[in-house]
Amino acid sequence: MSKVLEVRNLKKVYGARGTLYPALDNIDLDIEEGEFVGIMGPSGAGKTTLLNMIATIDRPTSGSIRIDGADPAKMNEEQLASFRRNKLGFIFQDFNLLDTLTIRENIILPLALAQVQVAETERRGYETALMLGIEDILNKYPYEVSGGQQQRTAAARAIIHKPSLILADEPTGALDSKSSAELLQCLSELNERNGASIMLVTHDAFAASYCRRILFIKDGSLFSELIKGGSRKEFFSKILDVLAVMGGDNRDFI
Ligand SMILES: Nc1ncnc2c1ncn2[C@@H]1O[C@H](COP(=O)(O)OP(=O)(O)OP(=O)(O)O)[C@@H](O)[C@H]1O
Ligand SMILES: [Mg+2]
Repeated sequence: MSKVLEVRNLKKVYGARGTLYPALDNIDLDIEEGEFVGIMGPSGAGKTTLLNMIATIDRPTSGSIRIDGADPAKMNEEQLASFRRNKLGFIFQDFNLLDTLTIRENIILPLALAQVQVAETERRGYETALMLGIEDILNKYPYEVSGGQQQRTAAARAIIHKPSLILADEPTGALDSKSSAELLQCLSELNERNGASIMLVTHDAFAASYCRRILFIKDGSLFSELIKGGSRKEFFSKILDVLAVMGGDNRDFI
């Protein structure tokens, strides 16, 4: 198995001299191809900071990140933009769909940007929509479909170009419990059937229970790690145990 992500001794300090704020320190983290890894921790722990650096949206203060063997720190802005488009897939809390495009056009956007041929684009667009159960709404606009369908559209857009790594930051944060469960089920199937590598940042123990491994961050450092052994339900209760020991902000933990 090959590594899709290798993070070594990562450190991020925000602010200027006098008002320095260390958000992450001494983070080592590997994700193998085909893994589904959750990142949990209290509010302010550094989860989004970590994800933004892996997403190449922000740069580390020190330490290194390798994605599919490449080092984003050595790339200029143009190379980074193309790297992001080709190698990464993003799912955010607020969907980030384009309102002037149909669901179909939103899904195929990454292929259009990569100038993939029309017939191939259409085929993959439909295939991906089928996987996420949104093939019936392809001609609608985002404001004409539910939040859950919008988020599955965002998930389809995140995977259509077969990225090396899918990065999701609180993707169920704006969804009701039924839509959350549907999205998580889809992510889980993408991981199990298609071997998609996924890193999911979440506050929510229910969402995290769909992952196969979870890293807990507290005050900018790795606190603990859990690997799924038995059922999702058993994993869920183990996650709650770690969260209880870890303390901090537990507004969404119960
Ligand atoms: N641009 C910034 N400048 C200064 N400090 C920042 C900046 N972004 C984040 N921080 C600080 O770094 C710490 C980590 O923030 P981060 O957003 O990574 O937390 P989080 O774990 O994602 O929290 P949440 O669960 O609330 O989303 C926080 O204390 C935050 O205030
Ligand atoms: Mg965050």
